[in-house]
Amino acid sequence: MGGIALTCELTAIGMMTHMKGYGADLAYVHDAGFSDYCRKAAPGILRLLKRDGICNGLVIDLGCGSGRWARALNQAGYEVLGIDQSPAFVRMARRIAPQSRFVKASLLRASLPACHAVTSIGECLNYSFDRRASRAELARLFARIHRALLPGGVFIFDVAGPRRIPEGGPRRQWHQGKEWVMLVETTGDPKRKTLRRKIACLRKRGRLYRRSDEIHRLNLYEQSEILEMLTHAGFRVRRLTGYGRFGLPQGITAFLATKGREGSWVRPHQASRQVIGCG
Ligand SMILES: C[S@@+](CC[C@H](N)C(=O)[O-])C[C@H]1O[C@@H](n2cnc3c(N)ncnc32)[C@H](O)[C@@H]1O
Repeated sequence: MGGIALTCELTAIGMMTHMKGYGADLAYVHDAGFSDYCRKAAPGILRLLKRDGICNGLVIDLGCGSGRWARALNQAGYEVLGIDQSPAFVRMARRIAPQSRFVKASLLRASLPACHAVTSIGECLNYSFDRRASRAELARLFARIHRALLPGGVFIFDVAGPRRIPEGGPRRQWHQGKEWVMLVETTGDPKRKTLRRKIACLRKRGRLYRRSDEIHRLNLYEQSEILEMLTHAGFRVRRLTGYGRFGLPQGITAFLATKGREGSWVRPHQASRQVIGCG
């Protein structure tokens, strides 16, 4: 397609608005055009897990999307529980990573079983699809993750900060793939530390294109806020500028938060499953 000539051959055959994020077409487009992020992050995160002695066991992936990271974890010998609020993503993830288990739920509320690691890749913790999303809820989530992790377990994730806001006002971008086009308008409010992405997604169905519109609202967090919340939850924390060789885009920071081995409370039936290092 030459430029973004949305001519008459690109006819919208329907208008769908989703109360929540990532309806079927945007989930498809995210997987087709944007799963590079977790694909490039995967080797670095796997190395972090191994370096911390976590070579198998259960990893919970919050905001698992289409399950590409879950599949990489399965291939490396881990069990995975993926959690996502988008039914379309959960369906897709079950196809892409059939060895993993997936649950459709809000990551702010889903119950977290005892696990060796928790991950959340691609600014999932910033979204406010769940209306309860707030700083206080995020702090509560960190405390629940700390409780779910076995001693020595790790929480690896990235979050967007205020530097994600485009400089010089709203930014309009378009992206395209073989059978889709996506237009995004990004605006931010530095005072409120929020970001808004207005997305129009066009997906080819037969000879026509189907249009769906979504608005994604994100709460942006300063690194210092995240560090404080994690420390308060009981974690030892390291800030990462990237996942291995994959450098993060401007405004996104990753964190490696570790639960100490000593003085941690472990249920008796879990004691044998403490994190013990890679043979
Ligand atoms: C940018 S996508 C990243 C997906 C995936 N982690 C990846 O790297 O491809 C953000 C994901 O977070 C999920 N998400 C956002 N808020 C959520 C919530 N409150 N509960 C569950 N999932 C959520 C979205 O549905 C979406 O799958």
